[in-house]
Amino acid sequence: MIIRTCQARTTSKLAEEPGLVNVLFVCLGNICRSPSAEGVFRALVDREGLAGRIAVDSAGTGGWHIGRPPDPRAEKAARRRGFDLSGLRARQAGREDFRRFDYVLAMDRDNHADLAGVCPPGEDHRLALFLEFAPGLDLDDVPDPYYGGAEGFEQMLDLIEIASRGLLAHIRETHFRD
Ligand code: 4NP
Repeated sequence: MIIRTCQARTTSKLAEEPGLVNVLFVCLGNICRSPSAEGVFRALVDREGLAGRIAVDSAGTGGWHIGRPPDPRAEKAARRRGFDLSGLRARQAGREDFRRFDYVLAMDRDNHADLAGVCPPGEDHRLALFLEFAPGLDLDDVPDPYYGGAEGFEQMLDLIEIASRGLLAHIRETHFRD
């Protein structure tokens, strides 16, 4: 179980809100998979009336696309399913994210290994593969669609939608049993 800790002195608005569950999705570039997961999961959280209780963000392990919007193919595929990714901008994940976020969710095993490399000692209980929340899929990775065709973005969204439902059910069970 992941237990939220509140830093006494921090610039993170997220960590200053007691009771807020903070979720970070991480992929390689933060322009395809993790912003898609951010958009899908935030929409689910909003729909369930939990916007004030769960904060959502995304980041990339690499820094090549910092400041850029999501890949237009990801935005288009998401928009067709009713998810809005506009306004999202890429940033790089770092050590401090393990203090700000209760859940640091890697899109694939490479992302997980990179994150484990920057995770401060004692904080690795926050790190998991996103697809751990979709055990029925029996998959570890959300495949990287960047170098492929449109169908890769559809498969990506299929996996993200399933794992998002599993993640929300887990958070409800773990944090909001009242
Ligand atoms: P993402 O996809 O990790 O899902 O955002 C990628 C985006 C960009 C690159 C690789 C993967 N790239 O090599 O620039």
